[in-house]
Amino acid sequence: MSQKTLEITEFLEKVVYLTPPHAPVLVSTISPFGNSNLAPFEQFMTCSDFPPRVCLAITPKSDTVRNIRDGSDFCIGIPTPALANQVFACGEPLPRQESEFDLSGLTPTRSKFITSPRIKECPINFECKLHWERDTGDHVLVVGTVLLVAVQEQYWDVDKVKRRLNLDMLYYATSGHFLTKGQVLQANKRELVDKYKSRN
Ligand SMILES: Cc1cc2nc3c(=O)[nH]c(=O)nc-3n(C[C@H](O)[C@H](O)[C@H](O)COP(=O)(O)O)c2cc1C
Repeated sequence: MSQKTLEITEFLEKVVYLTPPHAPVLVSTISPFGNSNLAPFEQFMTCSDFPPRVCLAITPKSDTVRNIRDGSDFCIGIPTPALANQVFACGEPLPRQESEFDLSGLTPTRSKFITSPRIKECPINFECKLHWERDTGDHVLVVGTVLLVAVQEQYWDVDKVKRRLNLDMLYYATSGHFLTKGQVLQANKRELVDKYKSRN
C-alpha cells in the first residue's frame, strides 16, 4: 500500500469524514407555537463534568436552533441500535409546523424541569437548559446544562466501566450507515508510563 502523504487544501469541508464516527443523539425541542420537534445530531459531547454540561454543533438553519433560541431548553435522548431507522428518518427536513415525532412514530413524554419533551423510546434522556450558544462557522455551538437525567435502571450501574460498556452504542458514519458496539480493548499504560518515569 502507498505511504504517500497527500496535503489537501481544497474541499476541506469533507474533513469530517476523516474524524472517527460519533454517537448521534436525538434532540427534542418545542416551537413557540407549541409544536414538538425532533432531530438527530452526531456532533455531540459532554463539555463539563461539574456543572454537568453538553454541547452540540448544529446548523443555524435548523428548527432545533430556532426552538432553542426561543425556548431556552432542549431534551437529549440517547438512542439504541434498534432506533437506527427512526434516528435516520428524523434527519428529514420538515416544515416547522410539522413534527418528526409524527414521522418517526417516537413518543414525546412530559419532562420534569423543561418544556421540551423526553423521548419515551430512548432509555436515557437529559433535560437541558441553554447555557450559551456561539457561532463557529456554518454551525452554532450550543452548550446546555443538564438539569436532570432520566435513565432506565439497567443502565445505572455504580461501576463506571460497566455503566459505559453496557450502553447500547450506536455510531453514525454517514448517509444512513451506522455502526454498533464492536470489540472491547483493555489498554495497559503501565509499561509506557514506567519507562517514561525512569528516564525523567
Ligand atoms: C444521524 C444524523 C446525524 C446528524 N448530525 C448532525 C449534526 O451533528 N449537526 C447538524 O447540524 N446536522 C446534523 N444532521 C442533520 C440534521 O439532523 C438535519 O439538518 C435536520 O433536518 C435538522 O432538523 P430540524 O430542522 O428539525 O432541527 C444529522 C442527520 C443525521 C441523520
